[in-house]
Amino acid sequence: MSTKAAVPATAAAGTRSLPHMQRTGDITQLIVDGKPFLILGGELGNSTASSADALSRVWPRLRRLHLNTVLAPIYWELIEPEEGAFDFTLVDRLIDDARQHEMRLVLLWFGAWKNSMSSYAPGWVKRDFKRFPRALKSDGSAVEILSPFSAETLAADGAAFAALMRHLRDYDSQRQTVLMVQVENEIGMIPEPRDHSPAAQAAFTSAVPKELMDHLTERGDALPPELRQRWQASRGKTAGTWAEVFGTTPQGEEVFTAWYFAKFVNDLARHSKAEYRLPLFVNAVLNRPGRAPGRYPAGGPLPHLIDVWQAGAPLIDMISPDIYFFNFSEMTDRYRRANNPLFVPEAMRTARAPANAMYAIAQQGAIGFSPFGIEAIEDPETNLLGQTYSALAHLAPLILEHQPMGDLIGLSPKVAYDGSVDDAAQTVSMGRYTLTVHFAGGKRPAADPAELTSGDPAMRGRDLPPAGGMIIRTGSDEYTIVGIGLTVTHAASDSGMQAGLLDVQEWVVREGRWQPHRWLNGDQTNQGREVFLSNERIGMLRVRLYQYR
Ligand code: DGJ
Repeated sequence: MSTKAAVPATAAAGTRSLPHMQRTGDITQLIVDGKPFLILGGELGNSTASSADALSRVWPRLRRLHLNTVLAPIYWELIEPEEGAFDFTLVDRLIDDARQHEMRLVLLWFGAWKNSMSSYAPGWVKRDFKRFPRALKSDGSAVEILSPFSAETLAADGAAFAALMRHLRDYDSQRQTVLMVQVENEIGMIPEPRDHSPAAQAAFTSAVPKELMDHLTERGDALPPELRQRWQASRGKTAGTWAEVFGTTPQGEEVFTAWYFAKFVNDLARHSKAEYRLPLFVNAVLNRPGRAPGRYPAGGPLPHLIDVWQAGAPLIDMISPDIYFFNFSEMTDRYRRANNPLFVPEAMRTARAPANAMYAIAQQGAIGFSPFGIEAIEDPETNLLGQTYSALAHLAPLILEHQPMGDLIGLSPKVAYDGSVDDAAQTVSMGRYTLTVHFAGGKRPAADPAELTSGDPAMRGRDLPPAGGMIIRTGSDEYTIVGIGLTVTHAASDSGMQAGLLDVQEWVVREGRWQPHRWLNGDQTNQGREVFLSNERIGMLRVRLYQYR
């Protein structure tokens, strides 16, 4: 998918290229102003951007958190309160304020769907349920979700989204404060896995489109196991109705839902890219293991449905997970694919946010990270995420230079879905050295199950150990390490040799910037045996190694 956007788009008003994705080897980077860009982001709470004045109190704090990008919603109901009469005052103010605070924006189109529901549709859409039909349950009753099978809904949402993009082109193509746009938000069908409206019924009893069958056939064994299993309901039929190919279980029906949501989104993308060619992405609310589709929002761009979405929405540049689960590393593994760069637009902002940010960027080649409800962080200077972003902002040129070369290593203990932490030391290979990484915080049992599902999702996991970080290999015998709660020992990969620390330089923030501070040795390196980052704050060390026999 990302390869489709690899051709630099040209701004209408000049020759400067627009933000776009560029693939180098295994890594896809976001290119802004002709250079790779790392999103050190945060997503605003849903209602914060509805008042520029409310937001004006927040900007200085976001700066002090060292964010370079804010993810902010654009509300359909506020930009088009009357059909065809657009008001972009709020959008312009958002862009102006971001510029004034030297920040970029990723805009989130809260259009036909936001967290499954259609609560951001303007009143003239909500009230006219004949023209804009709702999805129906199997008993014929309506839910407050616009049916994706309505041509009128597609036309109205598409016109508004295209108007927004046209406006961005006119207002922002010179300065390019807006980097990317998210299409809708956490799409998914509840409380049943599919729409039963008459148009949906007609589609469900028709043949599965050949485009989808061809894509799935081509991917074959590379398809996620859950999707392969659903297809096996028909022993892998390559033609037939949805029920014939995928069965009539909630799992089979979910494939149908995913396809038609993806098609709708692709149509929106087509309209919008004709106006202004910014990278577009969709975000997924992850499904809890053991729950059936419909009990979770079905048919969104979920890990097991990425192929269906990619086939249905080839104009979407990226499929991104909102990760409110503790098993962050595992979830990033499912979304980082050769044709899908990782971007985490929403995540918990608690103890593991720093380690997760560094892991995603280093280990999974992410283009950025963005915890949710960012304006709620009140103590930017002492907050570990603020310290992390400060360090990553300093290291960004080095990170982006080394990301495509495979020189980055993400460090995180294994954290399972249930919140249990396996703090076992991990070995990582770095050229002619093998590093053993120990994580502070100890082994943790599973969290109270209530903690997995209740309360503010962005605030879960407050008591988890923060340990983690990243290594940037800068030469055959040297690296920079940034992180928290880590101890690293070194061995030579060649069995005839031994490894030692040549020197270790600590960097700290002085006068607002990261600078070399002191040389660590003696007790601070356990007499040359190890490199150590405290569990109290984000640290940064430049390490040089040597070998002897
Ligand atoms: C995920 C949604 O995408 C956000 O807009 C917000 O509703 C959060 N959940 C709340 O935790």
